[in-house]
Formats: sequence, C-alpha cells, structure tokens
Amino acid sequence: MIMSSYIKLFFVLNIFLTVSLAIEPITTGLAVGVGVTASALLAGFNHFKCNVVECCDNNWFIPNITGLRTSLQDKLHGQHLVVDTVAKAVKGHIRNKNPSKALVLSFHGWTGGGKNFVSKMIAENLFVKGMMSRHVHLFVATLHFPHKDRVETYKDQLREWIKGNTSDCPHSIFVFDEMDKLPEGLLDAVKPYIDHYTEINGVDYRKTIFILLSNTAGNTITQRTYQHWQEGRKREDISLKEMDDLILKGSFNEKGGLWHSSLIEKNLIDVFIPFLPLERQHVKLCIRDDLRAKGHTVTEDVVTKVADELQYFPDREQLYSKSGCKRVSQKVDLIMEEVSQTVEEIMR
Ligand SMILES: *[C@@H]1O[C@H](CO)[C@@H](O)[C@H](O)[C@H]1NC(C)=O
Ligand SMILES: *[C@@H]1O[C@H](CO)[C@@H](O)[C@H](O)[C@H]1NC(C)=O
Repeated sequence: MIMSSYIKLFFVLNIFLTVSLAIEPITTGLAVGVGVTASALLAGFNHFKCNVVECCDNNWFIPNITGLRTSLQDKLHGQHLVVDTVAKAVKGHIRNKNPSKALVLSFHGWTGGGKNFVSKMIAENLFVKGMMSRHVHLFVATLHFPHKDRVETYKDQLREWIKGNTSDCPHSIFVFDEMDKLPEGLLDAVKPYIDHYTEINGVDYRKTIFILLSNTAGNTITQRTYQHWQEGRKREDISLKEMDDLILKGSFNEKGGLWHSSLIEKNLIDVFIPFLPLERQHVKLCIRDDLRAKGHTVTEDVVTKVADELQYFPDREQLYSKSGCKRVSQKVDLIMEEVSQTVEEIMR
C-alpha cells in the first residue's frame, strides 16, 4: 500500500514535469507546472499520509451496520429494547446523505446494563479504530467537567472542541458519560450543534452522533421491570413506549445534565433508550462471553461460581445483579486464579 503510493506520486510528478517543460513560454509554463506539481505533491502526500495515520476518509470511517446489528444481537444480553432501536437509528442516520440534524441517542439505566458497551459497539462499527479513533470523543462528567461553578468556562471549551473536531471530521462521535453528574446547563452549549441548522460558520454538524449516558430514570426503569415480573408478565413484553414516558419524566425532573435542558424542551433527542436491570441468567451469558474471550473452557460450574460472586436484589428474590455485567470480567479473573491454584495444588 505504502510502496504503491510512492510509485503513484513519482509517476504524477514526472508527468507534470514533462508537460510543463513541453509547454512553450518557458516562464509561465514552468510556473504553472510547478504550481500543479506542488498541489499534486500535496494531494499525493495526503493520500500517502492517510494510509498511515488516521484520517476521516473511507480508509478509516467504514460504517458496518450489519456488523453493528450482529454485535448487539450476539453480545448484548437482556436488552431487547436496545438492539433494534440503536441499529435502526444509526442506520437511518448513516444512510442518509443529508440528515436534517445530528443524531442524539440518550441511554438510560443502572450501571452494568451495557450503556458504555453499546457506545463502544457503535464506535467500533463506524470507525476502524473504534473508541481509540481521533474522531470519537468521550467526555466523562467527573473527569472533564468536575466543578459546577466553572460551567461557563466549560461551555466555551466544549463549543471549541465540538467545532474543531467536527471541522476535522463531519462524522465525529461525541459520548457524554455520567450525564447526571454534568453541571446543569452545560449541555445547552451543545444545542446549536444538534439543532436543524444547515451550517454554522461554514461547518455542517448534521452528520455527527451524540450519545448521552445516564443513570437518570434508572430507578423507575428498574421498578417498572420488577413490576412486570411480579405480575408474571414476560420481560420481553415491556414496550419502548411505556419506558419512554418514564424516562422523559425522570430526565426532566431528576437533577443533573438533562434537568430542564433545552435538548429535552426542544425535542432534540431522537431516541431515549432504556437499559433494563440484568437478571442472573443474563449475567451468566456475560460470564460465558468473558471466559471465552479469555480463552478459558466454559463450564457451568465455573459460570455459577462467578455468578455467585456478584450481589443481587431485591433481598428476597435475588433477581437482578446490582452491578449488572460490569464486574464480571474482574470476577472471572478472580475465580480462574483460584481454579488454577487448586489445580496446581492437586498436581503437586
Ligand atoms: C461487518 O461486520 C460483519 C460482522 O461482524 C463482518 O462479518 C463483516 O466482514 C463486516 N464487513 C466489513 C465490510 O467489514
Ligand atoms: C477535539 O476534542 C478533544 C477532546 O476530546 C480536544 O482535546 C481537542 O482539542 C479537540 N480538537 C479540536 C481540533 O478542537
């Protein structure tokens, strides 16, 4: 790839030199030739550069909607309301050559339900480098915007970042983690970039994706899911509609980043996506995935051992994992360490 770029570049250079020398009035001919050669050189260099370092071109931005759907179906457990909604929303936005506004997805639910995991899947199926891409930006409230009284400074900073990054790459993804800990009003700074403007000072923001992650409404989502269970109804019968209403109420009333935010008032959030609390059976699927990914043999015995390491609620029924699938990887390491020690002792 690199070698062929060099050859192409050399070839282009040669042609232009030959052409410019052949043109009669030597001075103007040479001037034009040099100009053209310089721009060809630059184009060649950019092409060469983008083979090596990440650019915003189709070497690095390769949307794979089928891949996204497959990943969601295979790796995200117990979230029937997420798979279809996310795949459809992202597909619609990417396929549309002329979207009317940025895509805004708002993920809600308790820790460990898969909010970060799904953000990662989206990034990985759009950009070759996934979360490590220069065009995927993760903002963590407590890390990037810790002081409530500095909200005005943060607003300026955020505007500059979004402007700079979107100028660099119109497909930029912005992920805001811990939305409920974001200083109130900060997100209003983002509103113009999300709204239906064709461009702002020459930059078009409509191809960007914003993903907002929050625990907001997590409690009500959990309660409603539990209620379904108590009434003997299937978890899969929980509808997006009933959860949407809960989330909307929660987002508007619970303090935090979305509280009274103009994003909600102006209906700028495209979809609210509920992440339900995970049952023990779902956690077990996460455990299996983790064991497999680490190259261990999956046995029911080990899976149960790991599942037993986690805590469940409500106290009486022990239905839902308190930390979802979040601490699974760490617990797998712990149990596998114990297992290998026991094996060593037996062998001795
Ligand atoms: C898209 O993802 C699927 C499933 O992960 C994979 O099999 C396929 O090769 C990918 N397509 C491209 C063009 O990378
Ligand atoms: C892009 O955003 C990052 C924060 O994720 C920031 O550090 C960087 O300066 C921004 N780039 C531009 C060109 O504004």
